[in-house]
Amino acid sequence: MRERQARIEQVLSRVLPPVDIAPARLHSAMRYAALEGGKRVRPLLAYAAGELAQAQAERVDQVAAATELIHAYSLVHDDLPCMDDDTLRRGKATVHVAFDEATALLVGDSLQSLAFQLLAERTIAECAQTQVEMIAILARAAGSRGMAGGQAIDLAAVGQSLTVPALEFMHVHKTGALIRAAILLGAHCGTALGSGQFEHLDRFGKFIGLAFQVIDDVLDADASTATLGKTAGKDQKDRKPTYVTALGLSRARELAAQLRDDALQSLQPLGEAAGRLREIAEYIIARKA
Ligand code: IPE
Ligand code: IPE
Ligand code: MG
Ligand code: MG
Ligand code: MG
Repeated sequence: MRERQARIEQVLSRVLPPVDIAPARLHSAMRYAALEGGKRVRPLLAYAAGELAQAQAERVDQVAAATELIHAYSLVHDDLPCMDDDTLRRGKATVHVAFDEATALLVGDSLQSLAFQLLAERTIAECAQTQVEMIAILARAAGSRGMAGGQAIDLAAVGQSLTVPALEFMHVHKTGALIRAAILLGAHCGTALGSGQFEHLDRFGKFIGLAFQVIDDVLDADASTATLGKTAGKDQKDRKPTYVTALGLSRARELAAQLRDDALQSLQPLGEAAGRLREIAEYIIARKA
């Protein structure tokens, strides 16, 4: 994990514009948002899926960075005063606090564009048709029928109590979609998987993506600000419906464990080669931050 985290840090540092290129303040804020922080779960998943598909690591670098850049952008916007209004992220002041709101908006815009640039400007798949489909996968995952749509549902749900199916719908969009895309994109960099195996992998992604946000809800209620590097207890304060408000802490944890089991079950047909994905699934449930 540490080796891969160091690798993605280097890749991101290379692809992000240096601070001595104009506009320096924007580039400095982009680097502030994306570098030195975060667990890098989406890149870890992309690398693990790439390994399964016997992809060249240099190709997976591009998709791992692209998904992390979309994720980093989503966090910058998620923290804005018009959204969750947070001041702490990854143990640092949020981008709009360290810089300003307009810069935070533009950081999000620019990280998103850079993500698609990474998928388009180098060869990352065996054929151009696959590469175009990969661009579409990330676009769908980030857009109104994916992450951004899930965020809209999240904001509209403030003060309401949602049923578990409605919570699931929100979570698979706002968080699950991008996690699922990271896995598919990693796998598309290689050629070793058939369409049946892709379906198993995608089922894994759907379960583990949902589990990831269930645990995010649990940690918001059950961990400290110091451990999380972001403000704890924020969901309750903001009257957000979560798996914790719907089920309570211990049943929410149980559900996450069940989703992990379902995810692992989906990997069964992929055999030994999916070992790394299994380990990441365990980590997603056991993590403390
Ligand atoms: C936090 O994501 C926001 C969600 C989508 C749940 P992470 O828990 O992956 O945040 P970092 O990248 O490690 O900071
Ligand atoms: C964030 O959900 C989902 C996205 C950023 C897309 P949260 O609002 O729960 O994430 P945190 O808890 O602020 O990291
Ligand atoms: Mg939010
Ligand atoms: Mg938030
Ligand atoms: Mg949260």
